[in-house]
Amino acid sequence: MRPEHEAPGAGPFLPWGHPLEKRLPGRPEGTDVMPVAIITGASKGLGRALGAALAGRGWDLVLDARTAAALDASGRDLAGRGVRVEAVAGDVTQAGHRADLVAAAHKLGGLDLLVNNASALGAEPLVRLEELTLDGLRQALETNVVAALGLIQEALPLLRASGAGTVVDVSSDAAVEAYETWGGYGASKAALDHLSAVLAAEEPGIRVWAVDPGDMRTDLYEAAVPDDDASGRPAPETVVPAFLRLLDERPASGRYSAPSLLDGPASLDGPSSLDVR
Ligand SMILES: NC(=O)c1ccc[n+]([C@@H]2O[C@H](COP(=O)([O-])OP(=O)(O)OC[C@H]3O[C@@H](n4cnc5c(N)ncnc54)[C@H](OP(=O)(O)O)[C@@H]3O)[C@@H](O)[C@H]2O)c1
Repeated sequence: MRPEHEAPGAGPFLPWGHPLEKRLPGRPEGTDVMPVAIITGASKGLGRALGAALAGRGWDLVLDARTAAALDASGRDLAGRGVRVEAVAGDVTQAGHRADLVAAAHKLGGLDLLVNNASALGAEPLVRLEELTLDGLRQALETNVVAALGLIQEALPLLRASGAGTVVDVSSDAAVEAYETWGGYGASKAALDHLSAVLAAEEPGIRVWAVDPGDMRTDLYEAAVPDDDASGRPAPETVVPAFLRLLDERPASGRYSAPSLLDGPASLDGPSSLDVR
């Protein structure tokens, strides 16, 4: 068994006094007590990079994506870092799949962090609102909002029991800026932001962060705007430290942006301490 609170091959993985430093409630004696995260959309892009960083800190992981082969490759890579990984292929819009994800976390001993990261654009490439099919809009809302809430609802009992339960809803600057062609996707992310804010008000015992990662060089970005040269955009790995900062410092629930977190003040009191839009 791994020593408590020590990442495989690394030093302590949580700051002293961190809520997850204590044995997590409900975990059976004599079993690992590493924190557990569910990350949706973890086969590539930001989800995979975040999974790698958490695995490096000793987190046990439940990973999701629709394409089994890519997800399994990601799962094997992360399991090679000495943590337990459950790769559960499926579509987050399916209630049965969401239940399977939470059941996998339960099997690992509980759930401390849910990352709603899987996302749909609604049209690939993006189109102006006059051309956006209503089915495309429905797909964006179904994946980015309805499925996110469905997974939160399924996960809430375990998150409440964690003692340090956390939800990260991956947002976008398209939720707050009126970029041409980003209307359907942006509307879905705005809805996700609001849902996160209300959840935070209703669940003071858990942290709920909506996080805009900023532009990243990923398949999603290239599908959205294939004519744009994405080569200058940051790789998702460069954004991950912003998410780790949230987990380490556990500021108040609210909306954060990765660029602000990466360049922001040394003390993180809450979203108001950053220039977050
Ligand atoms: N890239 C950017 O510039 C940017 C900017 C702002 C915000 N974001 C947000 O950042 C997050 C990550 O995006 P990314 O750029 O890293 O995208 P990505 O590289 O295209 O990865 C998306 C992941 O989600 C999975 N996925 C998509 N639909 C799914 C579904 N219905 N069920 C389960 N898994 C699904 C994909 O695998 P399968 O296709 O195999 O399912 C893949 O693992 C998203 O929430 C996105 O909106 C991205």
